[in-house]
Amino acid sequence: MAPSVSISILVLAFWVLCIFTHSTTMVVAANSSALELEAKALLESGWWSSNYTTNGSSLSHCAWPGITCFDGSVVGIYMEEVYLGDKFRKFNFSSFPNLEDLDLYNTGLQGSIPPEIGTLSKLRMLSLSINNLTGNLPLSLTNLTRLEGFFIYNNLFSGSIPDLLGNLKNLQMLQLGTNAFSGSIPHQLGNLKNLTYLGISRNKLTGELPPPLANLTQLETFEISSNLISGSIPKELGNLKSLSTLDLSNNTLTGPIPSTLSLLTGLSHLDLSSNEFSGPLPSFLWHLTNLAYLSLNSNQINGSIPAEIGNMKNLGELYLNYNDIAGQIPFTIGNLTNLRTLSLAWNQISGFIPAEIANCISLQNLTLSHNYLTGTISFDMSNLYLLQYLDLSYNNLSGSIPRTINHLAILETLSLSRNQISGSIPVEITDCRSLKHLSLSHNYLTGNITSLIGYLHFLNAIDLSHNNISGDIPFELGDSPSLELLDISYNNLTGNIPNISISIKEINFSYNSLHGQIPNGYLNCTPYTFIGNKDLCGDIQGFPPCFPTSSNSFSKKNTSPNNSKSIVHEIKIVVPLSFFLVFLLLGCIFLSRRGDKKTKLESSEPKNGDLFSIWNYDGKIAYEDIIEATKDFDISYCIGTGGYGSVYKVQLPSGKLVAIKKLHRLEAENPTFDKSFKNEVKMLTEIRHRNIVKLLGYCLHNRCMFLIYEYMERGSLFSVLSNDVEAVEFDWMKRMNVIKSTAHALCYMHHESVPAIVHRDITSNNILLNSELEGFVSDFGMAKFLDPDSSNQTLVAGTYGYLAPELAYTMVVTEKCDVYSFGVVALEILMGRHPGELMTLLS
Ligand SMILES: *[C@@H]1O[C@H](CO)[C@@H](O)[C@H](O)[C@H]1NC(C)=O
Ligand SMILES: *[C@@H]1O[C@H](CO)[C@@H](O)[C@H](O)[C@H]1NC(C)=O
Ligand SMILES: *[C@@H]1O[C@H](CO)[C@@H](O)[C@H](O)[C@H]1NC(C)=O
Ligand SMILES: *[C@@H]1O[C@H](CO)[C@@H](O)[C@H](O)[C@H]1NC(C)=O
Ligand SMILES: *[C@@H]1O[C@H](CO)[C@@H](O)[C@H](O)[C@H]1NC(C)=O
Ligand SMILES: *[C@@H]1O[C@H](CO)[C@@H](O)[C@H](O)[C@H]1NC(C)=O
Ligand SMILES: *[C@@H]1O[C@H](CO)[C@@H](O)[C@H](O)[C@H]1NC(C)=O
Ligand SMILES: *[C@@H]1O[C@H](CO)[C@@H](O)[C@H](O)[C@H]1NC(C)=O
Ligand SMILES: *[C@@H]1O[C@H](CO)[C@@H](O)[C@H](O)[C@H]1NC(C)=O
Ligand SMILES: *[C@@H]1O[C@H](CO)[C@@H](O)[C@H](O)[C@H]1NC(C)=O
Ligand SMILES: *[C@@H]1O[C@H](CO)[C@@H](O)[C@H](O)[C@H]1NC(C)=O
Ligand SMILES: *[C@@H]1O[C@H](CO)[C@@H](O)[C@H](O)[C@H]1NC(C)=O
Repeated sequence: MAPSVSISILVLAFWVLCIFTHSTTMVVAANSSALELEAKALLESGWWSSNYTTNGSSLSHCAWPGITCFDGSVVGIYMEEVYLGDKFRKFNFSSFPNLEDLDLYNTGLQGSIPPEIGTLSKLRMLSLSINNLTGNLPLSLTNLTRLEGFFIYNNLFSGSIPDLLGNLKNLQMLQLGTNAFSGSIPHQLGNLKNLTYLGISRNKLTGELPPPLANLTQLETFEISSNLISGSIPKELGNLKSLSTLDLSNNTLTGPIPSTLSLLTGLSHLDLSSNEFSGPLPSFLWHLTNLAYLSLNSNQINGSIPAEIGNMKNLGELYLNYNDIAGQIPFTIGNLTNLRTLSLAWNQISGFIPAEIANCISLQNLTLSHNYLTGTISFDMSNLYLLQYLDLSYNNLSGSIPRTINHLAILETLSLSRNQISGSIPVEITDCRSLKHLSLSHNYLTGNITSLIGYLHFLNAIDLSHNNISGDIPFELGDSPSLELLDISYNNLTGNIPNISISIKEINFSYNSLHGQIPNGYLNCTPYTFIGNKDLCGDIQGFPPCFPTSSNSFSKKNTSPNNSKSIVHEIKIVVPLSFFLVFLLLGCIFLSRRGDKKTKLESSEPKNGDLFSIWNYDGKIAYEDIIEATKDFDISYCIGTGGYGSVYKVQLPSGKLVAIKKLHRLEAENPTFDKSFKNEVKMLTEIRHRNIVKLLGYCLHNRCMFLIYEYMERGSLFSVLSNDVEAVEFDWMKRMNVIKSTAHALCYMHHESVPAIVHRDITSNNILLNSELEGFVSDFGMAKFLDPDSSNQTLVAGTYGYLAPELAYTMVVTEKCDVYSFGVVALEILMGRHPGELMTLLS
């Protein structure tokens, strides 16, 4: 697509040139009988519909679409993208002695070019690009000595390029690309001294590059990719001083690359990929400091990448894939701050990935796969927030996945497979919200699969196979609506197989320690999906049938595949009902005692004189203190990353401990996150309750976007429940108290606050615990005032697994959404983990 677009731009530019020069061209005044012949020929061509009629004496045809006349005679015919098909033949060329421009771009022309075209002796521009024209170029074309632009890109022309084209001395643009021309490049093309554009890509040309081409000193673009050109680059090509684009890719050119190319100082695009160049990278390349694009992919280049590469300040894309390059990546790569693509795959590059790569802040695509890189992935990713594609697979990298990965907010592909990476998958990966392809297979990863992976709604393929990952398969894995491939084979996963088969095309659970029944949704899978799990049962070949037990006897009776839908329906009805009952029960018990607490509630108002008691609108008062206390948000103060930002633990000069929630830099520019942030400020400034985390201050400014909260020593309810030691300390009384606190907070928000506030994201992650393990509701980023006048319809917000099914279906926000989520959290507190399985077993 791109070449055709650029060609049409060129064509357009050329017309502008032509039309501009018309005013200075004198056309021999034609007599009326000649003009009548033109009108007649146009009528007979059949190119215009029968609505258009001629009237020789009134020159009405000059007003037809696509016709330009000068002194009454037709000088231009522009039929771009009008379907003409085989009507090319009906055109009487000899009737248009004054025609200068003929544009038949993309008009469906068939057959060969009629030799009569040679009678258009004044023709300056001829475009026949994007048609189905066949055969040889007629020799009569060489009569068109005034031709300045000749475009026949994308047709089916064959035969050789006529030597006589070298007679068209006025040619400035010659585009013969994407045809089937064979034979060699005529050296007579070297006569076309005025040529600025020469495109012969995608033909079947053989032979060598003729040295006379070096006479084309006006040439700016020379494209001859995808032919069968052999031999070496003639050293004379260094004379093409005006060249800015040189594309010799996909031929069979051999080395050495002549050093005279160093004279092409205006070169910005150099593509020598897919040839047979050998030897080291020519050192002169690094002096072509205007180069923005350099590809030497698929050659036999050896040696190492020299440090001088740091000179190429304008380099935007560098491709050296599929060569024999060895040595290390020079640290001077960090000088290339405009580099968008660095692609060095399939070489023998060794050593560490230089930390300086973190300075390449424009990087969008970093591909270093299939090399011998060692060491850890230690470069700081926090400035590489434009990265979309990161492939370090097939190397010898070790250490763990860096936590700074949370800065890669638009990363779409992460491949670290086939290395020796250890440690667990960092929970920060869930900040890579755009992730589509995640491949971590064949490493030494341990730990659990974080259930937060359910946040990554664009995930399309997950490959975690051949690691040592343990724990349960989080059912949230199935929450990604676009997931098509899930391979978690060859790990040490335990527990049951969750029912996550909705849209997945390829799934592999084999060789783990999974047990229990294979859910009915998987009955179409082959046994290989589950092989190597000793304790699985189900109606799949090679596995024993499940014996009815108390927990699965209900589903056992309904194992015909058609029943799965009705089970889903029952869940929808049973689950919300039972949670509502749980809430009603708890609510009745605890809310009745609410009266006792009223006095305490008031004493929790911030005192006057406290550092943050002034709501800080201008971003100045607290800013310096915060920056000093966190050493400008040093990563060592970071205690976690959540939905919309990172949380830092900060000790202020006064000794007071606070938690600071800072919006990620990139997200700060995103209006939705900004909105959520401001929403949270608005909510929290309007509500005060002893069971709602207190907002101490905030800064809303382009440079600083953070909220300052009371510090909660024990972190989130989720982290306490999932830590074995802390979970023991979190005894029944404390658990009941947290349920009560949450109920109080919700009761206040729903019934005492005017207007009512719906939190919309009550989860175990958003309930924080202080040193006494008392619970506080936090994270009001999604909360919504229930305004009686405005529509209650909204987009679905909240966390999967806590979201009331009614909300997901009707999108109506009511207090009931929070009640459902509260029910889930209450069960989670009592059970010690998310009641996900219980919800499926309720069927
Ligand atoms: C008019 O044009 C015709 C055909 O082009 C030509 O034969 C004839 O001599 C011309 N007459 C004059 C007076 O120019
Ligand atoms: C041609 O145009 C003239 C005047 O503009 C008019 O008188 C004449 O009828 C027209 N002839 C035809 C065939 O339309
Ligand atoms: C084309 O036009 C010329 C006059 O310009 C005429 O002599 C010739 O017969 C026409 N050819 C056809 C095929 O109509
Ligand atoms: C080439 O271009 C120059 C300047 O634009 C012009 O004077 C000359 O006539 C053109 N043709 C040839 C054959 O040099
Ligand atoms: C064109 O190039 C050839 C070979 O490179 C050279 O011999 C010849 O002198 C050049 N002609 C002109 C007019 O520069
Ligand atoms: C390379 O050229 C060959 C023909 O010479 C063609 O078939 C192939 O598609 C080209 N490859 C690329 C990547 O353009
Ligand atoms: C690089 O390749 C050239 C030509 O194939 C060979 O002569 C040379 O020894 C190679 N150099 C290295 C360092 O492998
Ligand atoms: C890299 O950039 C620094 C500062 O811009 C410069 O001093 C140094 O020479 C550059 N290194 C290379 C190899 O270009
Ligand atoms: C990669 O690491 C493995 C194990 O540490 C080692 O055996 C192998 O030689 C290494 N390969 C290279 C090319 O460094
Ligand atoms: C897998 O991890 C477990 C601990 O979780 C460890 O005991 C075991 O040795 C590991 N297995 C392999 C093959 O590394
Ligand atoms: C699986 O994990 C258990 C304990 O976590 C460990 O003892 C066992 O060695 C692991 N199995 C493998 C194959 O790594
Ligand atoms: C929105 O919800 C509130 C509380 O449930 C209700 O009072 C109000 O009438 C609703 N507004 C609309 C427009 O439905």
